Amino acid sequence: MRIISSVREMQSLVNGEIRTGKRISLVPTMGALHEGHINLISEGRNRGDVLIVSIFVNPTQFGPNEDFTNYPRDLEGDLRKIENLGVDIIFAPTQEEIYPVEFQTYVEVKELQEHLCGHFRPGHFRGVATVVLKLFNIVKPHVALFGEKDYQQLKVIQRMVRDLNLEVEVVGYPIVRDKDGLALSSRNVYLSPNDKNSASQVSKSLREIKRKFDMGCRNTKLMVEFGKKILEEAGVNDIDYLEICDSETLGSKELASRGDLLAVAVRIKGTKLIDNIRL
Ligand code: PAJ
Repeated sequence: MRIISSVREMQSLVNGEIRTGKRISLVPTMGALHEGHINLISEGRNRGDVLIVSIFVNPTQFGPNEDFTNYPRDLEGDLRKIENLGVDIIFAPTQEEIYPVEFQTYVEVKELQEHLCGHFRPGHFRGVATVVLKLFNIVKPHVALFGEKDYQQLKVIQRMVRDLNLEVEVVGYPIVRDKDGLALSSRNVYLSPNDKNSASQVSKSLREIKRKFDMGCRNTKLMVEFGKKILEEAGVNDIDYLEICDSETLGSKELASRGDLLAVAVRIKGTKLIDNIRL
């Protein structure tokens, strides 16, 4: 497993692999790896000849009052966690490598970035799209793997790939959860055991709403109110959104149909958690 921090070195290495006909797969991450990442990395192994994992805490996707400085960073721990997964290259650039002085070019996926998390994290998806496009240009993957936990992110990247004619296949993988249903996230380390109890109610509220849908309810306002009550009873009062929306456009809906996205974002003692489920 080689660790590379220079953009130039990464590009010349991958150019050599591509010249010999190798298929490149990429799993972009911000590190602090958990089973959700591990699952993507294992899938990545099956999808290409050269498996590259990027680890970069991307400053441009954090708002001024967000946790960029405190975001968990543990490169050594991450390397230990993935040493047996057949990763060929870890691309772990510095901030200066990715954003040199006078950097000033950004990508925006105009409509998709406005919904759901977009309201609460202005500029977030612009930062995500920009860094992912840069990673695609540096690593030149044939296939890139993303988790459905960040469903809006996945849709933003798929739209960018189509709109800009990028030659990369973007594949989404299901959410990995702990035994209580909590979606794994690098930010879960901020939660105390008590907070984790409340956090597990987030996925429970989604399952309960889906149960209502399966019993025939279609009124999204009623379903959302019902879900918010479950959250509030569990002490989760800081809800950014709980929404039922079209799974492609992410526009909110009045009447739910099968396949719609039910998405939620809450804060538990300041820690932002997101989750979703398809109806
Ligand atoms: P990060 O939060 O580290 O997540 C990296 C990848 O792991 C993303 O595709 C994310 O959706 C996936 N992932 C995280 N938790 C998951 C879970 N519980 N189940 C399944 N997949 C999960 O997402 C980012 O980093 C960044 O925005 C990035 C794309 C790297 C750009 O900076």
